Amino acid sequence: MPPVSTPRPPADLLAARVRDPYPYFAWLRRHAPAHVDRRPGRPAVWQVSRYEDVRALLTDPRLSKDPDRVPGYVPGPAGLNRHLVHADPPDHTRLRTLVNSAFVPRRIALLEPFIAQVAHRLLDRIEQAVHIDLIADFAAPLTFRMICAILGVPAHLDTAATRDTLMATIAPDPSGDAGRAERDLHELLDALIAGKRSGDAPGGVDLLGALVRAGDESGAISEEELRSTAYLLLLVGHDTTMNLIGNGMLALLHHPAEAARLAAPGAGPGLLTTAVEELLRYDSPVRDATFRCAGESIRLHGRTIREGEIVSLLIGSANRDGERFADPDRLDLGRTPNDHLAFGYGPHFCIGAALARLEGTVAFPLLLERLGPVQLAKPAEELPWRPARVMRGLAALPLVRR
Ligand code: HEM
Repeated sequence: MPPVSTPRPPADLLAARVRDPYPYFAWLRRHAPAHVDRRPGRPAVWQVSRYEDVRALLTDPRLSKDPDRVPGYVPGPAGLNRHLVHADPPDHTRLRTLVNSAFVPRRIALLEPFIAQVAHRLLDRIEQAVHIDLIADFAAPLTFRMICAILGVPAHLDTAATRDTLMATIAPDPSGDAGRAERDLHELLDALIAGKRSGDAPGGVDLLGALVRAGDESGAISEEELRSTAYLLLLVGHDTTMNLIGNGMLALLHHPAEAARLAAPGAGPGLLTTAVEELLRYDSPVRDATFRCAGESIRLHGRTIREGEIVSLLIGSANRDGERFADPDRLDLGRTPNDHLAFGYGPHFCIGAALARLEGTVAFPLLLERLGPVQLAKPAEELPWRPARVMRGLAALPLVRR
């Protein structure tokens, strides 16, 4: 059979894609639902954009998450790639079981007063400020504090410098010294793990302490897996939820009537629950699912994805698919049903979903109540979106009090 060619995406949509991927995604869903990008010297990358396809492939065992199948493709610090996001069964199942119990909804619910307390404290600090960066002043420290509390990271390592080190390791085009960020990261992990081995037990969940013991006592996790898992949780435990708060507040600023609906005294917990889901759908914090490659050939829309080729599942696009969601580009905080894929689907479904939802449920009403009237401090087109491979989030969300 002759190869089926797909049309080329318009250059203007491609150029605007970091700032606003949605017109590009709409084009893909319509014209090239299985789109391939082939470049010399690199593995082919397929982009899958329709809801039904993305959901089906998220559970399809023909797709592998083992980066060793495509050496050199998955970026990231050396020696820190052996964690559950990049594993197939049985390793995936073993590693997931080891961390899962710390994130079950019943346990996470106990954190609510602490989340509210930290959020209030951060808002106290900017109470008088005219200029605010919602990311640096609120979303980043709040979400990082929570994952540090769960892992059992001591307070002196819960700092902006630690966050910067973590974020520098995923910058696609590191402007600073990438080697240095990697060294700093390894030093941080050394300090954290040595602390656990010498009896540093801050109380609470102390997931990292539990993982260290699981490795030392029964060999349930190797040293490389332990370090990789600690790195993964520190990173995704805050990068994702920080984006939920940033993208969500931006969406509310662009939709004042919806924001007013949520802030109204009569708005009950039902609306808050659907609102968090809608903000997750509308501008999804994880835009593309994580690494997957074809473990065998797969037919999709008349085309063949060959073994070893990368398959990128566009969650942000699936969540705007008009075949699944009525009026998909509209923000409707009361939307039900809302079976978005913002947390993925199937065996790799987000472990932190209950935590992220709770943080959103606490943060949005508090922000609406305590920030008062605010507006963007620069035109929306100039906001600094981070050019990340998987995430969609702002480097800063500058606001000014009116
Ligand atoms: C709004 C916030 C969040 C969003 C949108 C989100 C989204 C996702 C998505 C889409 C996946 C599946 C990736 C894939 O299949 O390729 C995932 C997996 C995962 N998430 Fe989250 N996440 C969020 C918050 C968190 C938090 C707070 C944690 C806490 C540690 C976390 C930990 C994880 C882990 C460990 C996995 C891997 C699960 C596995 O591979 O079995 N996430 N997340």
